Amino acid sequence: MAIERTFSIVKPDAVGNNKIGAIYSRFEDAGLKIVASKMLHLTKEQAEGFYAEHSERPFFGALVGFMTSGPIMVQVLEGENAVLAHRDILGATNPAEADAGTIRADFATSIDENAAHGSDSLESAAREIAYFFSTEELCARTR
Ligand code: PPS
Repeated sequence: MAIERTFSIVKPDAVGNNKIGAIYSRFEDAGLKIVASKMLHLTKEQAEGFYAEHSERPFFGALVGFMTSGPIMVQVLEGENAVLAHRDILGATNPAEADAGTIRADFATSIDENAAHGSDSLESAAREIAYFFSTEELCARTR
């Protein structure tokens, strides 16, 4: 099993609903360790840059509007097969299609406001971690 790092966001809807702790518990209960974490209120430019690959999609403006509507939590999670393990506990992008017991099934209301983000590959994880964190902000969890 490979120890990986992945990138995660608790989105403005879940922060607004006071679900930061509940979602962090899901990470820890799944064996994922938080190695960096901070609260941010994204600017339009930061949100557009993060989601640049979706800039031609019809929902891009709504997505940027949502992601700048309130504070978010950004975090780096570490563990065995962390990218897939995190995606598994997140559930499908559309909460209506998410398996019972997943974060999006339990905390999201719609595909527009779906509570959390997780990197979809190791390559995306590396890019997304570097978008928000410097190397010095990533902590070693040795105990
Ligand atoms: S797709 O269709 O599979 O390519 O979509 P996906 O890659 O899962 O989605 C990309 C991000 O856009 C968000 N999304 C939406 N936002 C607003 N409205 C609609 N209809 C919509 N569809 C997808 C989706 O949550 C993804 O954001 P992240 O942050 O990765 O969850």
